[in-house]
Amino acid sequence: MIKEKIGLIPRYNWDYKFPDFAKAFSAAWRHNSDSKGILESVFGQEPILTGSGRTSLYIILKSLELPEGSGVGVPLFCCPVVFEAIHEAGLVPVFIDINIDDYCISASDLQKKIDSISAIIVVHLFGHPANMDAISSICRSIPIVEDCAHALFSKYKGKSIGCLSTVSFFSFRSGKYISSGEGSAIFCQDPLLYKNINRFIEKLKEWKLLQEIFHCTATYIKSILYNKPWYGTIGYPVGRLLDQKLNLTSKTGIKLRKIAKGDLIILNDRIESFFEKVRKQRENAFFFMKNLNLKGGELPYEKSDCQSNYYQFAIRFQNSSQRDFIADYLLRCGIDSAKYLDEIVDVSKIDYGYRGDCPNSEICSKTVLVVPNHYVLSDKDLNYIVKCLNNGNEYFVSTCT
Ligand SMILES: Cc1ncc(COP(=O)(O)O)c(C=O)c1O
Repeated sequence: MIKEKIGLIPRYNWDYKFPDFAKAFSAAWRHNSDSKGILESVFGQEPILTGSGRTSLYIILKSLELPEGSGVGVPLFCCPVVFEAIHEAGLVPVFIDINIDDYCISASDLQKKIDSISAIIVVHLFGHPANMDAISSICRSIPIVEDCAHALFSKYKGKSIGCLSTVSFFSFRSGKYISSGEGSAIFCQDPLLYKNINRFIEKLKEWKLLQEIFHCTATYIKSILYNKPWYGTIGYPVGRLLDQKLNLTSKTGIKLRKIAKGDLIILNDRIESFFEKVRKQRENAFFFMKNLNLKGGELPYEKSDCQSNYYQFAIRFQNSSQRDFIADYLLRCGIDSAKYLDEIVDVSKIDYGYRGDCPNSEICSKTVLVVPNHYVLSDKDLNYIVKCLNNGNEYFVSTCT
């Protein structure tokens, strides 16, 4: 048991080591290091940097200058901080269902609800590109905001995700692909909107020296606790305890800040070499797809003209008993997994008045399991995850059905 705890493979990848901490710590003492050149060369557009994805979304929504209380379309199967940003911007989430196979906005549900929205947030969930052609043709002049928090270097019809609509944003928070601590980049094609966004950015608070030092130290400590051997022995049990103590309702308020100097240094340092890491993580996903044999479990796949970055590897089971059984089985084998957005229906009902019209999202919240496929995993880890998933599922099928 202690061996499984020490060796517990974390569900997410917090890749932030001592050299990263040292760089971020020394950057905190410098004057402004707002160098956007590297990001611009990688994305082919000038980025607007902010402290987090939620800050970016809030600013984008405010800059659209929609009338107070306007409806903003958003998939129900989505991180609740997105709903919070809509609410904080004085707007109202209108929940759109997802396709059960790619976890992104359903064009047919969008068509039904189009008259009640003034803007839409398209989330490329788990790194899978949404059907941008269908969405754009339904939306016509309604602004589309691409949420690329999961979708760094994913592609849609040969184009990079984040360049397909009027405005988009990425998140670089730890646990996401880049894991620079926090941070986000906005890309905007519309000159008027770009000007409005920049006006907001000028008003954002700078980080004070002590805040930066605290931030990079906390990021480093959390990253240690999110990696072996400390994840299974401290990080995981403490995380479970905190989850139980936290209220179901998730509103915490959004801190509007510029990007921290330390986070920007790490981001600039990593972004160019990240193509290789995304390639490796895609390779891991293909290894899973080739070797997993899960009766009653649907694996992700790529549509012919799309490329997912496989930021997360989501498996959809036939029902919640199968999903929960496999999660428990994996944990006993020393593999953590995530019941992603398990509580999203209750959160959105309590906080945002969700009325029960997104059946696919509700199914996914109770049947989807995210398993580790991170680029840092060894071949031995990958083989072990496949073996445990196949064995656990076989055991479930033979004993529980
Ligand atoms: C889909 C999605 N959008 C937006 C965000 C917000 O990004 P950040 O955590 O950088 O505020 C997150 C993550 O938390 C997310 O998962």
